[in-house]
Formats: sequence, structure tokens, C-alpha cells
Amino acid sequence: MVMEGKPQAPHVLIFPLPFQGHINSMLKLAELLSLAGITITFLNTPHSHHQLTHHSDVLSRFSRFPTFRFCTITDGLSPDHPRTIEFFAQIIASFDTVTKPIFKHWLISGHFGPDLTCVVLDAFFKNLIDAEDAEIKQPIFGFRTVSGCSVWAYLRVPHLIEDGQLPIRGEEDMDRMITNIPAMENLLRCRDLPGFCRVTDTNDSVLQFVVKQTQQSYQFHALILNSFEDLEGPILSNIRTLCPNLYAIGPLHALLKTKLSHETESMNNLWQVDQSCLAWLDNQPPGSVIYVSFGSITVMGNRGLMEFWHGLVKSGRNFLWVIRPDLVKGGEIEIPAELEEGTKQRGYIVGWAPQEKVLSHEAVGGFLTHSGWNSTLESIVAGKPMVCWPYTADQQVNSRFVSNVWKLGVDMKDLCDRESVATMVNDVMVNRKEEFMRSASEMAELAGRSVSPGGSSYADFDRLVNEIRLLSQ
Ligand code: UDX
Repeated sequence: MVMEGKPQAPHVLIFPLPFQGHINSMLKLAELLSLAGITITFLNTPHSHHQLTHHSDVLSRFSRFPTFRFCTITDGLSPDHPRTIEFFAQIIASFDTVTKPIFKHWLISGHFGPDLTCVVLDAFFKNLIDAEDAEIKQPIFGFRTVSGCSVWAYLRVPHLIEDGQLPIRGEEDMDRMITNIPAMENLLRCRDLPGFCRVTDTNDSVLQFVVKQTQQSYQFHALILNSFEDLEGPILSNIRTLCPNLYAIGPLHALLKTKLSHETESMNNLWQVDQSCLAWLDNQPPGSVIYVSFGSITVMGNRGLMEFWHGLVKSGRNFLWVIRPDLVKGGEIEIPAELEEGTKQRGYIVGWAPQEKVLSHEAVGGFLTHSGWNSTLESIVAGKPMVCWPYTADQQVNSRFVSNVWKLGVDMKDLCDRESVATMVNDVMVNRKEEFMRSASEMAELAGRSVSPGGSSYADFDRLVNEIRLLSQ
């Protein structure tokens, strides 16, 4: 009940795309806003909600906020649908036909309560709300969970199509330089454009979907990015020319730590976490371990798995490797004795690791990553150099920035052979270690400053909370 004369607490509905990387960062935003005294309804699909509550303690963690609640909405897919990135086109089609009308009905009928102030929608879900829909009264904030550099590249895709730089004309065209993207001059080759650009027909439905979602970013009341000025300042300025009300409030996991003033268990788990790797790390010398993880959606065949495995053993470095239960598609394989032996001597394999803790462990000297945006930010905050092996979407752009702009590591894009794995791991861990450790420490320092009082992300988050409060009055 709202007491007369007492100002109403703001109430924000948060709705992420049902993928780990998206749920992860939007949950962090949910916790940050809850800490600021804002009521949160966190909307998820039943499938993601089940996975999340099964493997993380999110329910008890959020129970300390009496007004916080989780809520689910159907994705329209059958219970046994795999819901993986390969079925992305099917997933978005189902959201469009089944979820969209329900979501709209719930918004206009007051399903989430009469006090709903605004919605923070995954900006990838822009299609769920029509710009001209006057029935929806709440302001819609878009939260794009990927890097600013990839958002800016997506925003330029229509120009690239217009001036004939896209489509990419096959494998032999991949090293052609892309021109005419402000703040990215002489930087991107075709192979560094977002993964969705790797199509011969620019009418490809997924490419068109992603580009359209991004183009419509300016229709949001405001755009929120998990980034910070010292990392992507020039890119953010360019995005602001189209979306002036931009909040850069990252790295969110670091901002959350500042606001809580202590370390917390991460909530990133859609799989069972194997904590045993921390004890294994405790027994390794400082800086000796390369941590290997390809995030939540990467899939590889047996051949790729074998090349990485041989490469890691061949590198002579200690390695901690996350082989997710659904990482490899390819049936049973026999593991060669030399790999069994090499792993026994120097390796440790888990199905899912407590990644933030692993990255901040002193035994870890580098990160072989798929360059997902959360992983990239977590590595930056922990001050660990990277070997980048991007798989899809924004990761191709992120890895180029890691290697050529921020100089935080090397880019192994489009290579998948044991020699390259061994060479690049040693580049980061041994041969160019000092150079990369220096830039990684500097960037970690800047990231830490951005989320501390007086820092750019800290200030932008306060501005966001103030704007939400004003909207509720
Ligand atoms: C993808 C995109 O590539 C990413 O850029 C986008 O923002 C979301 O979708 P994903 O494959 O999930 O993301 O990668 P990433 O964004 O790096 O997120 C993975 C998360 O899982 C990270 O927060 C990481 O800490 C966590 N993780 C990963 C674990 O907690 N344990 C593991 O073993 C592996």
C-alpha cells in the first residue's frame, strides 16, 4: 500500500535476453539498483530462471531486498528445445510471435504492479516494443550488454553496405581493411567486423535483425552500456551523436564490488560450479597458469578440441581449462596418452569455474578467452593479459581492440591449430609478458578508478539512479 503524501519508491522492470552473458550483467545491474533502494522485477524465461536458480544462490542473495522479485514469461519454445546460439533465428522469431504480445499486454494492463516506473530492456530485444506504440506509458531504457566498439561497428553496417564494403567476398577478402568508421580508422579488417557480418548476402536475416536492433537504439529513452570512459571514450562519444542519453556504468561487476565494499559469490552460473580448481590454483606458482574458457555459447568440434589440447600441452605452461558440458559437438573421442599425461602433469579441467575468483588468483598469468564482453571486462579488472579466440557476434571486434587498441594481448582469430595455440600462449605468458602485464596493470587501475567515488562510471550510475527517481515522482 502506498502511504498518502509519501513519495513512491521507483520500480524498474529488467528483462534480459535469455543467454548467460546477458542475464549475468543485467542481474548485476538489478543488484546495484536494489542497493540504491529501487524496487526491481527481474523478468526471465522459465528455462533460464530454472537454470539460474538451480546453480546459483540468487534467490537467497536477492531475498535481502524485500521488494525484489523474479518473474517469468514464456519464450514460446517447446521444453526440449536446445535454446543455443545456433538456433538464434528460431529463438527471436518465437519471441516476436509469442512473447511480444504477452509482454505488451502485461505492460499496459499493470501486470507488474501499478507503480512501474520504467523498463530496462535488453537492447537486443528492441523488437519487443514498437516505437510508435502509444499504449506503453513507461519509458524504456535499453541495456546493450556488449562492448561500445561492437555497438558502434553495428551502427555503421548500413553505411558499409551502402558504399559497397559489405558483403565480404569470401575467405580471400577477409584481410581487406574497412574504411570510413570514425574512431576505427586503419583498424578493422573484414575479419574483425562483428561475426554476423560473415555472410555473402547482406539480407541475411540474423545480420538484418542485429543491425535493426542496434539502429533503433536511439529510440530508447536512454542507452546503458557496460563500459567505461577510459576504455572506450572516443567510441562512446561517437555513439552519443546518435544516442545522447548514454550511461556508461561498467565494469558492472567491479562497480558492484565497490558498492558492497566486499567480494561476493558470483551469480554467473547456469552450470554447476567446480570450486576445486581454486585449491589446485593455490598449489601453482604465481603467474604460471593460463586460464582457458570459451564462455557460455561457444561450440567446437572434436578437431578443434584436440588442437587446443595439443597446443596447451605443447606450450609447456600450466593450464586450467573450462570444458563446459555442451562445449564440444562431435561424439566420443579417444584421448591420446600424451594428452592424458600432459594434463596430469600441468593441467586441470573443470565443467564450469568460478571465473571472477579464478581471474583474480595470483597463480593465473593469462587468459585464453573467446572475448565475450563479460570475460573481457573481468580480465581487464583482474589485470590479466589475453589470448583472444573469438567465436561470434561482438567477440571479433572485442579481440581486435584487445590486441591492437588496448594492447592487452594477442588475437588468435580464425586460427585453430596446435602451433598457434602454443605460440600465442607463450607470447602472453613468457615472451611478451612484461609488455602485456604493464598495459594490463595500467588498464586495471583505470577500471578500478572508473567505479570508485569520483570515477566516470560511478558518477554515471548515480546519474541513472537520479533519473529513475525523478521519473517516479
Ligand atoms: C556472449 C557475448 O559474446 C558477449 O560479448 C555478450 O555480451 C553476451 O553474449 P558469453 O559467451 O556468455 O557471451 O561470454 P561472456 O560475455 O564472456 O560471459 C560469460 C560469463 O560466464 C562471464 O561472466 C564469466 O565469468 C562466466 N563464466 C564463464 C563463469 O562464471 N565460469 C566459467 O567457467 C565460464
